[in-house]
Amino acid sequence: MLIIRSLPELRAHVEAWRGQGLRIGFVPTMGNLHAGHHALVDAARAHCQRVVVSSFVNPSQFGPTEDYARYPRTPEADAEGLRARRCDLLFLPEVATMYPFGLERRVRIRVPGLDDVLEGAHRPGHFDGVATVVARLFGMVQPDLAVFGRKDYQQLQVIRRLTADLAMPVEILPAETVREADGLAMSSRNQYLDPEQRKRAALLFATLQDMRRSRVAGCAREVVESRAANALGQQGFAVDYAVVRRADLSEPASMDESGLVALVAARRGATRLFDNLDLDPAPG
Ligand code: PAF
Repeated sequence: MLIIRSLPELRAHVEAWRGQGLRIGFVPTMGNLHAGHHALVDAARAHCQRVVVSSFVNPSQFGPTEDYARYPRTPEADAEGLRARRCDLLFLPEVATMYPFGLERRVRIRVPGLDDVLEGAHRPGHFDGVATVVARLFGMVQPDLAVFGRKDYQQLQVIRRLTADLAMPVEILPAETVREADGLAMSSRNQYLDPEQRKRAALLFATLQDMRRSRVAGCAREVVESRAANALGQQGFAVDYAVVRRADLSEPASMDESGLVALVAARRGATRLFDNLDLDPAPG
């Protein structure tokens, strides 16, 4: 596996592969890789002959009170894990490579309608930072396909809109959420949970499953949402939202629509957890 820090070197490798007619898959990450990220690499590998992973803790998507400085950085372990997944190139840019005109003067991309609801309402500016860095990474790597986890459901929708609206020639492949045995969605932030918080964190997925069952039982949307918020509240979570939305995050007119998604976000202590579940029962 190549480990590359500079843009000219990255470009040289990608151009050589493209010259050989190879399809290039891309997995953007902020490092601290776990089995969830490895599944994204496997998904890219299944569709492409070369796989590039970037690892960059992007300052522009962290709010002033968020954990940019303390975000876990584990470059050696990440590289080892990626070698085992047969990643071809690990791109490790510096802040100056990603933002050559400086963070303050960077070009910013907004995705209206998606950037200020749900996660965006609780993390102002977050999705501008994500859209901007992903657009830059796409410009650098120029992948044919990029894989994003469904765990970050709203991020996936932001990236879909970004690529469609800016006519970027990148196929976006969503990958299923990888879960721990008790249902907790894998996330780098899970390591901040103390043992008691970790035990209770599984309640998020249990709540989502309950929302799915209530929908199948014919409950109204307001009932499904308030029952979920109450259940989490009773377990000591401060609930940011527990909602049912269409796939594009707009509000459904009826619970009979297909393609609905349940999304929850809640805080316990200093850690904020969020998760989502497709409300259509699994086929069969
Ligand atoms: O999902 C992430 O890890 C980040 O938001 C991403 C897409 C790598 C952009 O920094």
